[in-house]
Amino acid sequence: MTEPLVEADTVSRYFVDGDVTAVSDVSFRIVAGEYVALVGKSGSGKSTLLNLLGGLDSPTGGTIRFAGRDLADFGDPANFRSSQLGFVFQSFHLVSVLTAAQNVQLPMFETDLSARQRRQRAAELLELVGMSHRADQRPQKLSVGERQRVAIARALANRPALLLADEPTGNLDSSTADSIFRLFDSLHGDGMTLLLVTHDKLLAERADRVLTMSDGRLLSDQSR
Ligand SMILES: Nc1ncnc2c1ncn2[C@@H]1O[C@H](COP(=O)(O)OP(=O)(O)OP(=O)(O)O)[C@@H](O)[C@H]1O
Ligand SMILES: [Mg+2]
Repeated sequence: MTEPLVEADTVSRYFVDGDVTAVSDVSFRIVAGEYVALVGKSGSGKSTLLNLLGGLDSPTGGTIRFAGRDLADFGDPANFRSSQLGFVFQSFHLVSVLTAAQNVQLPMFETDLSARQRRQRAAELLELVGMSHRADQRPQKLSVGERQRVAIARALANRPALLLADEPTGNLDSSTADSIFRLFDSLHGDGMTLLLVTHDKLLAERADRVLTMSDGRLLSDQSR
């Protein structure tokens, strides 16, 4: 059997604040190269689960493994993130004092790229998401959908093995969303593993597999 790239084993996340179990006993495996959509109603625990998978938060129960290794053993989670993982936050988390191009370069500071290579790679990524013309703007000057596209470009900076994205097309008009869908298809074609949280039926339909959450639990796991 192929070793899973990501494995959630009876994962739970309880928040004392609000006394809520946002993720409850969730188990699944994702093998390298899969394209997975994570869907479910608002409040069902999708972002909480994605944050756990990305090492941004720790489970209160269960284990998450990346390539067979417990995330809790990775040491500084930032190292794991910059080398293995691209993360698109639901609220983008762009750095407001940096331009779009500088935001895209941020993860590259963890690598050996020269300043020139960083600039060039950021320019290529902004081109991919249709944002070349706004490269020198700071986030406040960008529309919400433009910020979202910069956040996607930044997540791709270090060619991650795994892309985790929380509602990556949530703020885009249908034609811009369509170009981002095609970008995801081509990343998937190049071997990237994708796990995308989405309310967008059209995006979920492009995935090979759909995980559905309800009240913190995994309600269904359907492959096409
Ligand atoms: N830091 C936190 N502290 C307390 N409760 C939290 C925290 N984060 C999330 N929750 C709660 O956990 C539940 C799941 O939230 P989560 O953000 O994971 O839902 P979601 O499926 O991503 O929803 P949406 O589609 O609206 O983004 C909600 O009831 C939420 O209030
Ligand atoms: Mg969410």
